[in-house]
Amino acid sequence: MKNVFLFVLSGAHETLPLAELEAVLTLTSDFDLLETKENFAVYRTSRSGSRFLNTLRSRLVLTHSIHEFMGSFYWEDLEKFLDTLPRFETPYRVRVHLYERKERTETLEKQIGEMISDVIRKSGRDPSVSLENPNTSIEFFITENEVYCGSKLAEIEKKPFEARKPKKKPFVKPVSMDPRFARVMVNLSRTGEGRILDPFCGTGGILIEAGLVGLRIFGVDMEEEMVSGCKENLEFFKLKGEVKEGDARNLEKIFSRNFFDGIVTDPPYGRLSSTKGSDVEKLYNESVKSIEKVLKPRSFLVIATPTNINIKTKMKLIEIHRERINKSLERRIMVYRK
Ligand SMILES: C[S@@+](CC[C@H](N)C(=O)[O-])C[C@H]1O[C@@H](n2cnc3c(N)ncnc32)[C@H](O)[C@@H]1O
Repeated sequence: MKNVFLFVLSGAHETLPLAELEAVLTLTSDFDLLETKENFAVYRTSRSGSRFLNTLRSRLVLTHSIHEFMGSFYWEDLEKFLDTLPRFETPYRVRVHLYERKERTETLEKQIGEMISDVIRKSGRDPSVSLENPNTSIEFFITENEVYCGSKLAEIEKKPFEARKPKKKPFVKPVSMDPRFARVMVNLSRTGEGRILDPFCGTGGILIEAGLVGLRIFGVDMEEEMVSGCKENLEFFKLKGEVKEGDARNLEKIFSRNFFDGIVTDPPYGRLSSTKGSDVEKLYNESVKSIEKVLKPRSFLVIATPTNINIKTKMKLIEIHRERINKSLERRIMVYRK
């Protein structure tokens, strides 16, 4: 279906995959959510084409794959669905992904492939198949009794994130953020271009992900060791950025008002990473006040907080996501718009 896309989402978190996807979609197209269930989401968009796809492919982390949507149906209606399958380019292949079912994928792929070939033959065309080099890979995602079907356009690469795990960076501390999580936070800020700030930048986990998607990166940290270590990490990934020693409660002393297109940050929770003696809630509130001054109107702040913190701000709260870090610590990701 033209401009209708099926997104297969990671099951790693209940709310973040869809939220990340919608935040990234806002950078490239208007969109309407047509249906969503478990790990699947179907959107109609105003844009398509290579720029649209490249933005999604280069940004997303909690989406597995993107498909041109062909339809959704109940498993018992497979035959009926295949009879009305939209025309596609051959050679083709069939791929089956099973959720909750225990059949053999190869057997189902063969069975569905033969049924599709029959339909194509009936319409007087040649049903040529190529497993290695198809023009269309028709993918069936089969849950207990529902099926989502689409022709595959892109898969999100996971390997580059493995290569950026904290341990693989030259400067690492226990507070270093996982690159996937950092990328999701950057994406939630809906910053498509321009300047992005992490005012508690630590080892630079967030700045690296923001730099790699082409944003101009700025970092502040109160500790000299973090500032030099963060710079070392940015250089390691060949990223240019400005990292300064300073206090996140006084950002307006370093930057002019309304300077940033997005602010993404992970302040100390008062456990692993110290607040330097300040009360955690007070530190959050004083820095959020300062962040508001240097953020452009209508731009977004994405901030990780412990659950017991109460943030008071005039900025509009857009989203909250909860995440369990370990048995005794839960954090929230809050998204605000100025
Ligand atoms: C949780 S860590 C950030 C970790 C970072 N996301 C990373 O990937 O390494 C919080 C950082 O805030 C810094 N910090 C604490 N109080 C600060 C303040 N008032 N202003 C700026 N930085 C501060 C700490 O030195 C620490 O590096």
